[in-house]
Amino acid sequence: MLEGESGKGTQKAMELLVAIGDAYDAPKMIPISRAHAASSGQEGDLYFVELLADGGARCKVPTSTNPVYDIPYFHRTFEGIPEDEAAVARRVMEAYRRVGAILSWSCLPYLSENIPLYGETVAFSESSATPYVNSVIGATTNREAAQSALASGVIGKTPLYGLHIKENRKGTHLVKVEATLKDEFDYTLLGYYVGKRLGYGIPVLTGLVKRPSTEELINFCAMSNVSGAISMFHMPGFTVETSTVEEAFQGGKPQDTMTVSNRDLENACEELQTTSGKIDFVMLGCPHYTLRQIEQAAKLLKGKKIRAGVGFWICTSGTTRLLAERNGYVQTIERAGGHVVVDTCIDEPCWIAYRGMTGMTDSPKCAYYRRFKEAMVGRLADCVEAAVKGRHQ
Ligand code: F3S
Repeated sequence: MLEGESGKGTQKAMELLVAIGDAYDAPKMIPISRAHAASSGQEGDLYFVELLADGGARCKVPTSTNPVYDIPYFHRTFEGIPEDEAAVARRVMEAYRRVGAILSWSCLPYLSENIPLYGETVAFSESSATPYVNSVIGATTNREAAQSALASGVIGKTPLYGLHIKENRKGTHLVKVEATLKDEFDYTLLGYYVGKRLGYGIPVLTGLVKRPSTEELINFCAMSNVSGAISMFHMPGFTVETSTVEEAFQGGKPQDTMTVSNRDLENACEELQTTSGKIDFVMLGCPHYTLRQIEQAAKLLKGKKIRAGVGFWICTSGTTRLLAERNGYVQTIERAGGHVVVDTCIDEPCWIAYRGMTGMTDSPKCAYYRRFKEAMVGRLADCVEAAVKGRHQ
């Protein structure tokens, strides 16, 4: 494959994996069973996927894709999306189709479109996906890029290094959680705070009084892997690989210990507010909302009206929207003046209409992208209230 006998696209994919393997002193390649490429409608992603597609490469194992955007819908809804940016998005989506990827356009593939099992070896990129797959599911993946994950999907292998080796999966830092975690927004703040304090490492979290929900785990994963580079963590008793703290450290000692108090999380939340007052729009679903989160939003919006001129957007996957529509949640949200959109995320050019405007979100990751001018961050209930009033605080 490296010498080009399987075609130019496969050769390029193999060259990348060999270079990564050399950089990490990997002794060999190991087979993977699936991959997730954090695709986007941007030029860096376009370059690599077209290089492989034009060279005739095809995915050997199931390889899912991250959001780009629903091109017909957004071009009907918003004016002014630059044609050159739309052309990039179209070509990205077409190139992933040509390499035989699963066109999931979702950042939660591990919930419905491409689900690893415990013990599988995989190559997953995307902020929440890498730590979720390692920690919650117990499959093994390194913190892949869109390109390395796609290359692995094409070759069906990945270099043996990092989190594919058991001893590298041991905890590095002990995190004693003293804060009260009431809901998934508290896990968002916890992830943001832990990632920022640690930067890099495998935290072992203690002090959790109940099993976190799927959404709480998703938010912890996404935020800790954005404010820091946390590819894996242990919550002994709640995540699959360890039932005790000793096991999580594989018999060793933590490099450091930190505590997280209610005050720490309140400070983290305050730090995320760049403004207050009038809002132009609310953006939810970063990471993509699950069915249960859409249901919560629908319940909060039932019988209410979003203020005229305020946008209200929930991003989710196509499969989740289908269920949400079947259950009547989408209709409730639309009656209130909101929208549930598929295949997209805040980091895509389709949101150009909001450039220079002020938004509110429940996701620090969404606020970080700053496609808009300023952001307020709060719980879902606060976001809904702000959308109805047209202002926050
Ligand atoms: Fe998903 Fe995009 Fe947010 S990929 S996590 S919606 S930045």
